[in-house]
This record gives sequence, structure tokens and C-alpha cells, in this order.
Amino acid sequence: MYEDRILKPELAELIITAQEAAMMFKDKMVVASSGFTKAGDSKAVLMALAERAHADPLKVTLMTGASLGQGTDGALVEAGALSLRLPFQVDPIMRRAINKGEVFFIDQHLGETANLLRANNFPKIDIAILEACLIEEDGSIVPTTSVGNSASFAALAEKIIIELNLSVPLSIKGVHDIFSTGEYPNRREIPITKANTKVGSSVIAINPDKIAGIVITQKTDSPAEIEAPDASTKAIANHLIRFFNQEVAKGNLTKSLLPLQAGIGKVANAVLTGFVHSDFEDLTMYSEVLQDSTFDLLDSGKLLFASGSSITVSQAYYDKIFSNFDAYKDKVMLRPQDISNAAEVIRRLGIIAINTALECDIYGNVNSTHVSGTHMMNGIGGSGDFARNSYLSIFVTTSAAKGDKISCIVPMVSHVDHCEHDVDIIVTEQGLADLRGLAPRQRAQVIIDRCVHPEYRQELQSYFDRASKERGGQTPHLLEEAFSWHVSLRENGSMKKAPI
Ligand code: COA
Repeated sequence: MYEDRILKPELAELIITAQEAAMMFKDKMVVASSGFTKAGDSKAVLMALAERAHADPLKVTLMTGASLGQGTDGALVEAGALSLRLPFQVDPIMRRAINKGEVFFIDQHLGETANLLRANNFPKIDIAILEACLIEEDGSIVPTTSVGNSASFAALAEKIIIELNLSVPLSIKGVHDIFSTGEYPNRREIPITKANTKVGSSVIAINPDKIAGIVITQKTDSPAEIEAPDASTKAIANHLIRFFNQEVAKGNLTKSLLPLQAGIGKVANAVLTGFVHSDFEDLTMYSEVLQDSTFDLLDSGKLLFASGSSITVSQAYYDKIFSNFDAYKDKVMLRPQDISNAAEVIRRLGIIAINTALECDIYGNVNSTHVSGTHMMNGIGGSGDFARNSYLSIFVTTSAAKGDKISCIVPMVSHVDHCEHDVDIIVTEQGLADLRGLAPRQRAQVIIDRCVHPEYRQELQSYFDRASKERGGQTPHLLEEAFSWHVSLRENGSMKKAPI
């Protein structure tokens, strides 16, 4: 029952169905929704909006924290209900629509969306849909498994629809840390000095006059689909663990390392899992997404505390965590993504950032988003927020993809998300290239020696040697050939046929 979750009783009059809520949207509206990597998203109203759009066409702009679960993005696309989407997505139907040019997509640093909105550099939000597990006496809400951009959406939207989710235990209250820096030119510092420093409130403030409806739901988050570590991802994890051990032996790091950030995907998950059986101790995380591996590390006693913006876990972990949330409550914290990803905090804490590349080039530029330079995969997410400002910016990838038909180390990346200046270390299952303190030509040789798949090593060495000899420069390239590997993939289905 919902009565014990609406502590301002008169608000109960605003309870409506998801279908009634869906009728509040109009063509061309700007809609914001809670949700960060499938956690704490709108599960009822956005789906009802997709159903409505089939019969009664309309198109809206939709912004969120990050990706949605429940197949919601796909359902909205199939209903023709989206004109513009930001700042991140992982849905295959949405991906196809973006790449066909049917839906515009703004691929944005996740730490920046709130700044853009608060500076009025984007049209005003008409309606925000926010998932909550409790509405307090003053109308403020306790969010659920993510915070994302919800606090900014709540402050800026004209109207708010609350999805009150009864499936999330009330014991989650207290885990959120809602903080705002205020506005320019009088913004204040974010006084986080450790991963576990709480600086804000446990609730998101809401002006009750803005609440246009409350929809009761019981649906749980879509489970994360996490692939178990395989030989390649285990090898990457082992290279990294060895590297961290060397840094400890040199006295650069202690056995607690520095707070860890790990991106999405199977490689990042395998790397964190690798810490469970390592010698490291008293680890902390200051990250975005708390995945299964985060909870394995907490359970193993290796990890003391994890700060993020969402809890995105598989069904088995969801059941385990939320059937006994009190066991984790003092060990995790969820923050707005402009705080979890704030440059200031990342730099102060000295984050070790581990993110995933689709491809890297011989000089250390990284493409995390665009397949062959044109087709969107998911988006940059928070990887750029962390890579630029971290103590150590690490990118991991397998050395080859798609049955080794694609080399993930190429002469020149076909799209740049993280430039050479933001990349300290590249790791593949072949080895680890420590690029710190190296000039571009030195970086190229280390990357070729350590990271390239054996099938491509000779060709890449030949490219680098000829570029250095024939063209020279600070960063030698043969412009006629730089993308020939991608062209070969397009024409022949494999980079192996590259004409070098
Ligand atoms: N060219 C084309 N396709 C490639 C490729 C390349 N160079 N390298 C990998 N791929 C394909 C893989 O074959 C796989 O395809 P499939 O889904 O058809 O099997 C897919 O890309 C994903 O690669 P995978 O090896 O399974 O890695 P992943 O699950 O770790 O995902 C990214 C890798 C880069 C797509 C993912 O980490 C991402 O979206 N990162 C950007 C956002 C981010 O870093 N956020 C961090 C903060 S949350």
C-alpha cells in the first residue's frame, strides 16, 4: 500500500494512472526522466506515453540521467515518439534509429547535462518524471536506485510526475547525497574530500505545487546483463593488477590505491572482479555505476566504500542487496551525476579511472563511441569526465574484435572521444602500455609492442615506420593510409585485408 509512502496526505489526491499521466504530454514538449544505466527510471509513464503515441502521434525531446531499462527507449522509438534524445542510451532499436538519422542524439559528458540546463542553454523542461520510493511531508522525494539528473530536473521542470515505486524498500532512505553548487557567478566548492564524505541532503527538494500527478508502480529495475569474465578480460585484469602491484612497490601508491572508477561493460566489470583475489585492501570507489563487482568487493571486505550515481546490478544481486539493504547502507552512496562526475572532486580525490575503448590509435587517442567513425554505439557516458581529470586515466579493450576481423588498435582512430592528452595507460589482453612521460613517437612504439594483436602487429609497425620516415612530424601519419584499415573493413569485412 502507498499510504505510508506519501507523508503529505493531501498529495494522495493526485494519484493517477500511467495512462492518465501520458495524456499530459503534448507534441514538441521537452521531457526529462529519472534513470541512470537502467536504474531508478520511469517504468510506467514513459511506456504509457509510447502506447499513447501509437494511436495519437506526438514527438518529444527526452533527456535522462543515462540509459533507461524496460525496453523503454525502443518502445518510444517504435511509436515514433522521439525527436531528440540525450545524453546517453544503450538500446539497440534506439541505436538503429539514431544511425538512420530518424532520432537526433546528443552524446554528452554525463557530468555536463545539468550544467547545460541550469545555465539555460537548452529549452525549458515541460514535464519531469521522477521515480521515488517516498514522498515526505514537504513534498520532497526519496529517490530509488539512482540519482542521475533528477535533482536538477526537479528544480527546473515546470511540472513533475512522481512514479512512486513500492517495490523499493524504504531502508534505502539515507543512501542519497543531494548537493548543489548553486549558480554562476556564485557557485561554491563541492566539499567532498573522501569517497564517503556526505555533503548534502538525503532527499530531492520538490515544490509540491509543481506535482501534476503521482503514479504508483511496483516494477523493479531491469537487471543488468553482465557477461562473466572470459580469457581476454581476465588477462586484461591481470595486467592491471600487476601494474598496480608495481606502483605499490615503487611507492607511488599504497595497497589501498586511490578511489576507483570503472566504466560500464564486461571488461570494466572483469577488472573489478579481479581485485577480489588480489592483495589490495581498504579500497574505495568514487564512480558512476555500482555494478555486481562492486558488491563482490564489498562482500569480500576489499572495498570499504563505494560512491556512485546508480546501483545497476543483475537480478540475483538485486535480490540479494535489497532483501538486506541495511548490510550495505553505510557502505554505498548515490549522488547527482554532476557531483559524481565533477572535475573538481575527481581531481581532488585522485581517481584511478578505468574505461573502455572501442578502438585506440598508435598515439593513444581513444574512440569509445563511434563504430568506424560514423555509427553510434552507446555514447561517451562519464568516461570523458573521469579521463580528463583523473590521477590515472586507463583505457581497456580487447586487441581485436569480431573474430579478430577488427583490430582495436589502428593507425588513426576514426573518431576521437579521449585525446592522447587524456590517456595514461592502454591495456589489452596482450599487455599494458604505460604512456606517462612519453612523447608521441615513443608512445606509438610502446603501444605496438605491448597492446596490438599479433595478426596486426607487423602491419602497424610498418605503418609507423613508413610514416616516421616518409612524413615525419611530431605525430607521424600517412594520411592516405590512416583510415585504410576502416575502409578495408567496410569493403572486405575485415581489417586483415588492409593494403599495407
Ligand atoms: N569496431 C567495431 N565494433 C567493435 C569494436 C571496434 N573497434 N570493438 C568492439 N566492438 C564491438 C564488439 O564486438 C561488441 O559487439 P557485439 O555487441 O555485437 O558483441 C561491442 O562492440 C561491445 O564490445 P565489448 O567487447 O563487448 O565491450 P563492452 O561491453 O565492454 O563495451 C563499449 C565496450 C566501448 C561499447 C562500452 O564500454 C561503452 O559504451 N563505453 C562508452 C561509455 C563509457 O565508457 N562509460 C563509462 C562510464 S559509465
